[in-house]
Amino acid sequence: MSQKIGILTSGGDSPGLNAAIRGVGKSARGAYGMEVIGFRDGFRGLVEDRTVTLGGGALSGILTLGGTILGTSRDKPHKMPVGGEVRDMTDAIVETYRRHQLDALVCLGGGGTQKNALQLHQKGLRVLTLPKTIDNDVAMTDTTFGFDTALGIATDAIDRLHSTAHSHHRIIVVEVMGHRAGWLTLGAGIAGGADVILIPEIPYSVQTVADAIQERVRSGKPFSIVAVAEGAVTRDEHTAMAAALQRRETASSKEERKKAKAWIQRLEEESTDHTLRLAHQLESLTDLEARVTILGHLQRGGTPSAADRLLSTRLGTACADLIEQGVGGVMVAARGEGVEAVPLEEVAGQKKLVPADHPWIDSARRVGTSFGD
Ligand code: F6P
Repeated sequence: MSQKIGILTSGGDSPGLNAAIRGVGKSARGAYGMEVIGFRDGFRGLVEDRTVTLGGGALSGILTLGGTILGTSRDKPHKMPVGGEVRDMTDAIVETYRRHQLDALVCLGGGGTQKNALQLHQKGLRVLTLPKTIDNDVAMTDTTFGFDTALGIATDAIDRLHSTAHSHHRIIVVEVMGHRAGWLTLGAGIAGGADVILIPEIPYSVQTVADAIQERVRSGKPFSIVAVAEGAVTRDEHTAMAAALQRRETASSKEERKKAKAWIQRLEEESTDHTLRLAHQLESLTDLEARVTILGHLQRGGTPSAADRLLSTRLGTACADLIEQGVGGVMVAARGEGVEAVPLEEVAGQKKLVPADHPWIDSARRVGTSFGD
């Protein structure tokens, strides 16, 4: 008897999601005769049983579309706002899965989705995931779909900022997404030739950044592009956060833990406008004017790159094969030219950050890029 599968997209949208839905759906239907349905708006659609049939028509013409035809949300199964309170909706999800007599659920998402998927797998559902995010921070996979497209967009932006920075002899501080990981800023910074790259993995000193910019002025280049990750931190911020986290870990009472949490929250709030603050500080430490560009959600929008379409299709079709083989509880990871089924236990809760000795960092330093360290 043929199998029936459900697909959902969860977390921030990412170019390549529709290509992946198409890859799973077309291959599951075409090669194995499976029935395919989609759940709307991530895990919330699964709780509320809002479905869409993914037949031939729905799966056609979506390869090049940005966003997700299913809609998405950041809702977590075990902590979902419902009727004014936050509730654990896992049982409702299990019920929907059983009611539809699903043989597998495919969750397309980033780090948070891997954790949610593991919990559902532990509740007895057969769950497979695909790694999507522009942040490229999912563990155990070479890369994630969405990253290449965002990298192209951020690089193009840095290219364009160069001519205006050059014309006005200004510093342009460009903020790049990536959550707590520096992959996108590092990649776009190198590809776009940013003069300074600031990433969360390398805490920076504002004075060191200013010195690098002044050095460029002395060598006849009175303009600079500073690519700063949204999660980048100064050395002082890094030290304060490490102390706050340590205090939370070692708290001996509920009261102590509460105080440590409040401290962490304050530090996080203080870091929100860090790009504007950095630009102001650089203006006062150098003789140059500074401007800020926040790329924001532009980096997630629009049509996926060819590389992302290819990756999504590879992972999606491999996912259908794994379902047919009876595999579950895995993330379909990209490994070289192939794919690998990695147990969700090895992925959930892990974050792939930029290692200090990553070759990209070495290459950037060798062409004269400052990391502000
Ligand atoms: O995870 C993708 C991402 O775009 C991050 O780079 C960013 O920190 C976050 O999502 C923004 O989330 P939202 O779209 O919910 O504001």
